Amino acid sequence: SSNGSILNEKTLAMIKPDGLFGNYTDRIKNVILESGFIIFKEKVVQLDEDSAANFYAEHSTRSFFSSLVKYMMSGPVLVMVLEKENAVTDWRTLIGPTDARKAKISHPHSIRALCGLDSEKNCVHGSDSTQSAEREISFFFKEVSAGGVVTEHDEL
Ligand code: PPS
Repeated sequence: SSNGSILNEKTLAMIKPDGLFGNYTDRIKNVILESGFIIFKEKVVQLDEDSAANFYAEHSTRSFFSSLVKYMMSGPVLVMVLEKENAVTDWRTLIGPTDARKAKISHPHSIRALCGLDSEKNCVHGSDSTQSAEREISFFFKEVSAGGVVTEHDEL
């Protein structure tokens, strides 16, 4: 469009185990829809160690990596493909800072302020770039590509 944004951009959103355990799904979905996103695809997934480690591979050298992988395996997650103009940036803005303790102070209306606890149990995930979004969407939804529907394979 004229301001350089991409119409119908897609991003990967995830409600993490603490978000599902805490019954925040409906409230988070309301925020998503009220903010003008379309939920293009969604499914509940139980990550195993390999899939959690693969999803977060870019953080494999961080000190928190094994803890993060263990947490992400601790229960099911809800993954969604969200669609909207500027979906990647707007979803990241909506979820707030990584550390939910900071979110509660600096971004009190963010989703992480609503349902997160700290940097690990921070309730939701969002792709950090359009490149990440493409990788993360195809990680969970093999049939969704930048160009649209290719094949049907919903399993991990
Ligand atoms: S950092 O510290 O700026 O690199 O953090 P960030 O890049 O925002 O975080 C990347 C993902 O790692 C998770 N994370 C943690 N997990 C466990 N323990 C600690 N201390 C920790 N710090 C960060 C964080 O939740 C990010 O996950 P996603 O799903 O990408 O938001």
